[in-house]
Amino acid sequence: MSNQDKDKKNRRSQGWFNGKGLDGYQHRSWMRNQGRPDDFFDGRPVIGICNTWSELTPCNGHFRELAEKVKVGIYEAGGVPVEFPVTSLGETMMRPTAMMFRNLVSMDVEETIRANPMDGVVLLCGCDKTTPALLMGAASCDLPTMVLSGGPMLNGKHRGKDIGSGTHVFKFIAEVNAGKMSQEEFDQTELGMSRSVGNCMTMGTASTMACMVEALGVALTGNAAIPAADANRKLMAQMTGRRIVELVKDNVKLSDILTKEAFENAILVNAAIGGSTNAVVHSIAIAGRLGVDITLDDWDRLGANVPTLVNLLPSGRYLMEDFYYAGGLPIVMKRIKQHLHTQLLTVSGNTIGENIDAAECYNDDVILPYESPLCTNGGIAVVRGNLAPQGAIIKVSAASKNLLKHTGRAIAFENLEEYKSSYNREDLDINADDIILLKNNGPVGYPGFPETGNVSIPSKILKQGVRDMLRISDARMSGTAFGTVVLHTAPEAAVGGPIALVKTGDMITLDVSKRLLHLDVSDEELASRKKNWQPPEIPSHEKRGYAYLYRRHVTQADTGADFDFLVGHSGAELPKSSH
Ligand code: FES
Repeated sequence: MSNQDKDKKNRRSQGWFNGKGLDGYQHRSWMRNQGRPDDFFDGRPVIGICNTWSELTPCNGHFRELAEKVKVGIYEAGGVPVEFPVTSLGETMMRPTAMMFRNLVSMDVEETIRANPMDGVVLLCGCDKTTPALLMGAASCDLPTMVLSGGPMLNGKHRGKDIGSGTHVFKFIAEVNAGKMSQEEFDQTELGMSRSVGNCMTMGTASTMACMVEALGVALTGNAAIPAADANRKLMAQMTGRRIVELVKDNVKLSDILTKEAFENAILVNAAIGGSTNAVVHSIAIAGRLGVDITLDDWDRLGANVPTLVNLLPSGRYLMEDFYYAGGLPIVMKRIKQHLHTQLLTVSGNTIGENIDAAECYNDDVILPYESPLCTNGGIAVVRGNLAPQGAIIKVSAASKNLLKHTGRAIAFENLEEYKSSYNREDLDINADDIILLKNNGPVGYPGFPETGNVSIPSKILKQGVRDMLRISDARMSGTAFGTVVLHTAPEAAVGGPIALVKTGDMITLDVSKRLLHLDVSDEELASRKKNWQPPEIPSHEKRGYAYLYRRHVTQADTGADFDFLVGHSGAELPKSSH
């Protein structure tokens, strides 16, 4: 018997398809109703294609077509594909927030992979939460795994100018509130914003996560930037299909790729791309599934000395289509390669160093040279103090430099509803150097950890010509957002963290260079306030079902907001037979 034959006999999928009795009969027979030939069951690699296509996830609206191309590649390499759906997470649709369902989808992915005859998996990821959710689930199984991202939309256009997903919406709303843009023009911008299939084309969370998976080595080189509408995205799908079959034959598991050093590379790359703050919480959650220890301190330590080279919105001015034409992520990685672990193996079969070696830049204004960056310290800073004992984060490249060291009066809001009903009131007592403090938008509080941290600036401040204020919350913010925004404050207000105790008029100091977030209230006064603190009321419809489970088991932002019972992995050993 040849080695190849030996491998075939030992494949995981043979635990289903090689039986001679009732089980084997049922496993094969019912699959044959789709017209499967005998050799479908002979031990060739069975590759799951985990598809997050949904009409309610417009960013992933082209995934059926991509899945077909992955299948072509799998067949070409001698494997057999089995496509399966999982719950999809449409960022712009889901209420209260798609993030609330990330962990649910990760369970869907993990259990579907483990329960079925698969030897390897391709994860079709696009819209923000689909990438971390699928990777978390797959990591808890640890089969050979590759990610194929859906790619960004074409650049948005309005009156001859480029406009970017999310970022320009926030800008336009501020202009309308300041009386600088008409409602009619605002409505017109909607028609040119989302011009093709694909995810947001700013360096928002979706594109950040696509860059992360390329930097981690779980996607092929070039995966992040190819637009969804470009024929090369289909080619990437086909090549991914070919390659996953080889990974199964070589038994290269996800944990062989996603090492501590790989996560360190991803953190370094995030600084260089000016990536989303959401990558912090997602990377910690993914690493947690593999038993890899990634913490807020890693984010602060590693990113601090890496310059931001990618001149894309929201930190810079270009969009993902420009990034692709300039050469994409391999250029960025090549330009910071002195910081990277270039010897690491990737799913391509080559090392990081080999993958990026031949990369050539075609536009130095889109991907800036190392010596003339957009921002010299591009990392995400972690601040701590009596207001955030477990940490809070701030994206330095998207902040106003004059607010990175700031002391001001807190204007505190108990929840988003209170803020929304007050912030545009002319009699609101607020000045440009005050600090907007928003509570109860953390994982437990909202619930679901929404992207509300970059709340709109009050219109009376906008009319003064001011476009940024220091904002502090226990929320996240969209990767497409910008401003001086302290996020993920932990512990959050809803579990009694110090942020719950802040009152309007308290003084707060942020000093990013000292990594400090300090509430100027005595320990005695805080202890007294804590005694009188009551957790927010939970609405009756959230006292059962998934919201109930979520509130009880979600961890705080600094540990990834995963469920406590999902951290770690169980492998992909064959479960008991089904009959
Ligand atoms: Fe899907 Fe932005 S809304 S990626």
